[in-house]
Amino acid sequence: MLLITNYEGRCGVQKSVELLMNKVDAIRAIIEGIKLVEVNPEIHTVGANSLPNLLGQLELDSAVMDGNTRRSGAVGALKGFKHPVEIAYRVMTDIEHEILVGSGAERFAEEIGAERYVNEMEHTQTAWREYLDSTLNEEQKQKFPDIRLLDIKTKPKDPENLFDTTVYLAQDYTGRIATATSTSGWPWKYPGRLGDSPIIGAGSYADSRYGACACTHTGEMTIRAGTARSVVLYLKMGLNLSDAVYEAVKDLADLKTGFINAVTVHAIDNKGNYKVVGLNPNKEVKYLVWHPELKEPQVKDAEIIRT
Ligand code: GLY
Repeated sequence: MLLITNYEGRCGVQKSVELLMNKVDAIRAIIEGIKLVEVNPEIHTVGANSLPNLLGQLELDSAVMDGNTRRSGAVGALKGFKHPVEIAYRVMTDIEHEILVGSGAERFAEEIGAERYVNEMEHTQTAWREYLDSTLNEEQKQKFPDIRLLDIKTKPKDPENLFDTTVYLAQDYTGRIATATSTSGWPWKYPGRLGDSPIIGAGSYADSRYGACACTHTGEMTIRAGTARSVVLYLKMGLNLSDAVYEAVKDLADLKTGFINAVTVHAIDNKGNYKVVGLNPNKEVKYLVWHPELKEPQVKDAEIIRT
């Protein structure tokens, strides 16, 4: 058994560990951990309490993947529900699609009886208003929101300084490998923007035969490089876990245009190895790991690569 999560996922790790130890399957174990992250008031980039898009709305993204079947479920730009990760799971189990977005995802969530929630909080709305106040000119302020958003926004900003998405990767006692992600994406993003978190193959991928990968931070890069699928494919082609991650990081580092920023790649293989590499972060990158030989989950530093 093995569990790794990024540092933003720390409040849910104990729950996932308990479930893995009680022989709950890897998918349900990591979903229950992520649900605690989604409602944690201190995490501002996953679930409720997150910083909103340019219009002050929270559009949430999430995905799950079962490495035994390679079935996945994902939701994107979902508004008004408490647990995107649970709805992503139900996409996997209840409908013959892999991803639902926007109003269709909300309709589906309603139909399965998912819990509604007002994700926009007073303090995050205040932060958004302050952002607009310092960014818009007087004419834009008067006309807002009936303005060209493109005029005020060409690049995502990162006011949370590398606070991010949460990603969980686990292997359970049967050898099943699973991944799950949940995020509000980048603060002040353009409405409708999807990052990599709901995109299977970019932000996450699981295959119990080889391993799994999940990424945090600049989804605009991992979407282009197909990073999560690449790592698992490099494993399939015979690379060891470290080399598989290094190859995927090289693919990311080779991107020179578009929105370029940091990425963290989290990966496990089916033999119990794990590897986390941060590409060009602006501060240290931590993650958590647990396996049965450890009494407690441990916080570790990712290897950092700068280009
Ligand atoms: N990696 C999260 C995002 O780009 O939205």
